[in-house]
Amino acid sequence: MSEKIHVTGGHRLEGEISVSGSKNSALICMAAACLCDDESPITITNVPDISDVSVMMDILSALGKKITRERDIITMSGGISDYNVPLAQSSFIRASVYCVGMLLGVMGKAVSGMPGGDKIGARPIDIHLQAFEKMGASCSVRNGRIYAEAPNGLRGTEIYLRFPSVGATCNAILAAVRADGKTVIENAAKEPEIVDVCNFLMKMNVSVFGAGTDRIVITGNRRHLHGGFEHEIISDRIEAGVFAIASAITGGDVWIKNSVIRHNRPLISTLTEADVICRETNDGFRVTGRGKLNPLNITMMPFPGPPTDLQPLFTVMATQAPGESLIVDNVFPDRFQYIYELVRMGADIEHFGNSIRVKGKSNLIGMPIEGTDIRAVTALVCGGLIADGETIVEGVKHLERGYVQLDEKLRALGADIQII
Ligand code: UD1
Repeated sequence: MSEKIHVTGGHRLEGEISVSGSKNSALICMAAACLCDDESPITITNVPDISDVSVMMDILSALGKKITRERDIITMSGGISDYNVPLAQSSFIRASVYCVGMLLGVMGKAVSGMPGGDKIGARPIDIHLQAFEKMGASCSVRNGRIYAEAPNGLRGTEIYLRFPSVGATCNAILAAVRADGKTVIENAAKEPEIVDVCNFLMKMNVSVFGAGTDRIVITGNRRHLHGGFEHEIISDRIEAGVFAIASAITGGDVWIKNSVIRHNRPLISTLTEADVICRETNDGFRVTGRGKLNPLNITMMPFPGPPTDLQPLFTVMATQAPGESLIVDNVFPDRFQYIYELVRMGADIEHFGNSIRVKGKSNLIGMPIEGTDIRAVTALVCGGLIADGETIVEGVKHLERGYVQLDEKLRALGADIQII
């Protein structure tokens, strides 16, 4: 029988919690470490111990990289010797697609399965491939495989992304590192995880300008990349959001430590508008619910807009606000599959296009429900925190993909939650 998350609602969350390293940032930096074939190791710290990271380790090891892991520290050294991304593993995680940009730079060739990850609507890779083609590669997708080749190497160029895709920006950056000459990426994503990988690359001796803006300039450097440095992964702003929203909806008081305010600004701003008290501290922020919430009117957008990964959690919050909330997702317009489980629990949610209208306040009732992606499962768990009785959430594997012991952390804050 598969494991399930059992949550009994009605407990106010209170206390301090430390946020783990960012999943998305760790996965990008691991791919970036493979651009350098130095025997001097690259040490990446604050890497979350989650299954997506284990899959990425398996993939990069299969490509030839030497990788060891001890607690939250990963050490990577040596070179890449294969351009075939293992098919099964590539379909487990979205970040496997970063191997294509990296391998094009290192080997001039890449073959990979289509990336996996959360099922949150169509997730094409056309912008990634357009960027590679602009740099001189030929790319195709056939029979569920990505083929990319640049026999004469990649050349620096100007690339305009039609949408500031996080993945395409990362892939263009990774490919540009070993291209000939300068690459300019316009309409680049500005997410903190992009800034983190650019900081990582600068330690490797890559010339990068403009990280965190919509114009990133990279000067290709084949010969002088080096290892022998340490990089600490930024903390996970989406995990911080889970604790913040869990505190807000339970009328709790949670001090979220090891968290960067600038990365959490869109979250804090949304909470403040909902009448939740947010106080900045020297290493994070403290979220105190007043026991009442204002309705939300928010649109998920690329950073610095509210993050789409928190959209399902904002929906749970909206169910507790008297009045009508409007939630729009401009990043993943189809990311609303989870709402039907909340409706079964008693929420009043109407879905139209890329938006939902939530009428609150609803009394949620605990029952068996299923989450089909990482963020949906967390939202349903949060629904369970405020529901009457016991909520049994199916989808433990999704939780383990993205969060370090989220159940234990919520329990430490007073939640009644068990994985059984
Ligand atoms: C990354 C994150 C994910 C987050 C998302 C947006 C990882 C492993 N995942 O996903 O948690 O929710 O950023 O912040 O870091 N698009 C295209 N063509 C492309 C690429 C993207 O049409 O070639 C579209 C997507 O379908 C989506 C939008 O652009 O509608 C944004 O996607 P993108 O920013 O690329 O997200 P990911 O990198 O997949």
